[in-house]
Amino acid sequence: MNMTDLLSDIDVHHAPRSVSDRIAWGFVKSLRFCADTFFAKRYGHRAVVLETVAAVPGMVGATLTHLKALRRMSDDRGWIRTLMDEAENERMHLMTFIEVCQPTLFERFIVMAVQWLFYLFFFGLYLVSPRTAHRVVGYFEEEAVISYTHYLAEIDEGRSENVPAPKIARDYWGLPASATLRDVVLVVRADEAHHRDVNHGFADELAGGPVKAVRPGPAHVPLQPHWTVA
Ligand SMILES: [Fe+2]
Ligand SMILES: [Fe+2]
Repeated sequence: MNMTDLLSDIDVHHAPRSVSDRIAWGFVKSLRFCADTFFAKRYGHRAVVLETVAAVPGMVGATLTHLKALRRMSDDRGWIRTLMDEAENERMHLMTFIEVCQPTLFERFIVMAVQWLFYLFFFGLYLVSPRTAHRVVGYFEEEAVISYTHYLAEIDEGRSENVPAPKIARDYWGLPASATLRDVVLVVRADEAHHRDVNHGFADELAGGPVKAVRPGPAHVPLQPHWTVA
């Protein structure tokens, strides 16, 4: 993925078309309000806490799609791998930002409380309406793109220090040794834009509508268990 790709596609918005879309949009906007109130301009803290939430839907979707494929003895059309990759990618966002910003004790408590609530909520939603669940994620990702755009502005205007990129991030995205936090935020934002398009695509497919082609997101080198032989 080149520099132009990292900068394009950041303004995409899926206009709500159905009741399901409007419910998803309203839910995400109310959560956005809560996040804006709680974090204000503390973008590092915001990234760490919200990435612990962002990594949940992919694993829930993968689990339930896997179980459905087993029950129906049918092909998953690549959904399970895609959703697991998304969950892993979001977890790597967390592992990256935890190197840049340490959450407060209160934020760690919030993470634990919210994980239970959000996991159970999202599991239930996915059982009842996978289409709405994917639309919720599509809208979450639209908001993530906006938040990381704000984070970039904070860095560019000198309010957040443009520290060197953590090693885990350089290894995962194949960034050069000279890479900085700004480069990391750019590539993370491109990941979020990719999740946005994939999840809106899943929701469109489940709604029976036309599905737009989705370009591949940034390339990743996932962590391997330490006993893996190269
Ligand atoms: Fe993320
Ligand atoms: Fe995301």
